[in-house]
Amino acid sequence: MSAKLIMGTEIREEILKEIKREVDEIKAKHGVVPGLVTILVGENPASISYVTLKIKTAHQVGFKEIQDSQPVDISEAALLALIDKYNKDDSINGILVQLPLPKHVDEKKVLNAIDPDKDVDGFHPVNVGRLMIGGAEVKFPPCTPAGIQELIVRSGTKTSGAEVVVVGRSNIVGKPIANMMLQKGPGADSTVTIVHTRTKDLAFHCKRADILIVAAGVPGLVKPEWIKPGACVIDVGVNRIGVNEKTGKAILRGDVDFDAAKEIAGSITPVPGGVGPMTITMLMKNTLKSLKFKLGIA
Ligand code: GUN
Repeated sequence: MSAKLIMGTEIREEILKEIKREVDEIKAKHGVVPGLVTILVGENPASISYVTLKIKTAHQVGFKEIQDSQPVDISEAALLALIDKYNKDDSINGILVQLPLPKHVDEKKVLNAIDPDKDVDGFHPVNVGRLMIGGAEVKFPPCTPAGIQELIVRSGTKTSGAEVVVVGRSNIVGKPIANMMLQKGPGADSTVTIVHTRTKDLAFHCKRADILIVAAGVPGLVKPEWIKPGACVIDVGVNRIGVNEKTGKAILRGDVDFDAAKEIAGSITPVPGGVGPMTITMLMKNTLKSLKFKLGIA
């Protein structure tokens, strides 16, 4: 049996169309569009390409978009002042500071300076707390976990009562997605287990999973025999394992042995093309939500 592929590339297009439609409606009715600013410090090539794609996508869905590029030696105080300026700017609904930041800047201090009601990354402790409480409290779920949940739901996977096993306990993927899947309500209501590098028997836990979410950052960590037949497998890993000599592009592998796993799983995300395209999509969704909260129509 070959698993159904859960294509983030296709689901992204579906969601971006929904966002664009809503943006057009709000513009017609309220005369405003969502505003997103991305702050990029320095010239890290990966960060530049992420920010460029974020701005391009924001433009595509009809947002006001600002890319604010700052020199690598900007002082922490100047960066905090810049965030304060955007916190006070009424036309801006989402502020994103691209990470990582240079070493002389305290990343935590910078992220905590963003107004929680404009924190579309969902990294501010207030939003982490709101996510933990769940339900109507949640404003901005972090983008990668939100994208994972969309993939699960839109692929028609049953979550209520499902055994969800999350491999990895990072603050940006493992912990929040585990929290989201155990909340009450549609797309959640699951029984959740988190496993990590100190777990005694990874295989034992993975084999129990109806939905297996892997965010460990270890290429090929999950072996086919760890997968329950028919399970939904979400591979968050993006590991560069080499360079294609012809194209010069990085060769990417997930955390799951894809070729073998697809013969056992019921559905599975490919790498690339699965979870990856969802992160920026959910950033757009959060920015739209931010404006909707402000207009009282969320
Ligand atoms: N750097 C890599 N991924 C991300 C992200 O999702 N948000 C921010 N702000 N920086 C990143």
